[in-house]
Amino acid sequence: MALQIKNLLINWIHDRQLKKYASIHFKKSLIDIGCGIKPYKKLIAPYVEKHIGVDHMDTLHSQLEIDLFGTAYEIPVENQSFESAICTAVLEHLEEPELALRECYRVLKPEGIAIYSVPFIWHLHEEPRDFYRFSKYGLMYLFEKVGFEILELKALSGFWVTFGQLLVYNLYRLNKGPLRWFHIIDGIGLIMQAIAYILDCFDKTEQWTWMYMIVVRKNGIRAN
Ligand SMILES: C[S@@+](CC[C@H](N)C(=O)[O-])C[C@H]1O[C@@H](n2cnc3c(N)ncnc32)[C@H](O)[C@@H]1O
Repeated sequence: MALQIKNLLINWIHDRQLKKYASIHFKKSLIDIGCGIKPYKKLIAPYVEKHIGVDHMDTLHSQLEIDLFGTAYEIPVENQSFESAICTAVLEHLEEPELALRECYRVLKPEGIAIYSVPFIWHLHEEPRDFYRFSKYGLMYLFEKVGFEILELKALSGFWVTFGQLLVYNLYRLNKGPLRWFHIIDGIGLIMQAIAYILDCFDKTEQWTWMYMIVVRKNGIRAN
């Protein structure tokens, strides 16, 4: 419960954007790279016929939703197997992000679409497998180098949501004993998220975003 309240605002912003892009771009069969517990299964279900999750054996998450064990560098499927791909909050956990993009490119059919979400300003998590943060210029460089055409590159927040959220996370470190029983931190966290959201509506300066969402298309010929 507390975990959901803590993440309410960013989950809502992320999911709303993902639903919008998925409804426009996804079709038929989908590969979910680094699927974890497949949190977007329901959200994406109306737009695809098949949702296959791949994750590695050493994942820190439950393995119940994993259909294929493999890595982002070696997905155990034939070339050009999927029309759609999703990879949310995974790229920063990969030592070799470029190799993982090439693997996604390999498993997509020509004209296939991939949606990635990638953090820019965010705390360390899932340590020690947390390697990078990406600016929009780094993302453009990597995706284009691999041969993808970038259709959308959206910063999901400005300063207020990013720093409001980090403040809320920090506050939750106090969520112990009586503070936890009476949901005091939950209440303060909710108010802070509401204020952050309102302020962000007035000033969404992209350079402070906590995350980017990027939609790319596989074109016929690989750039290099
Ligand atoms: C922050 S979680 C995100 C999970 C899920 N995509 C989501 O949005 O909730 C990062 C995921 O990347 C996976 N991961 C880390 N290294 C990987 C690798 N080399 N190959 C495949 N998955 C990997 C982890 O197991 C974990 O499920």
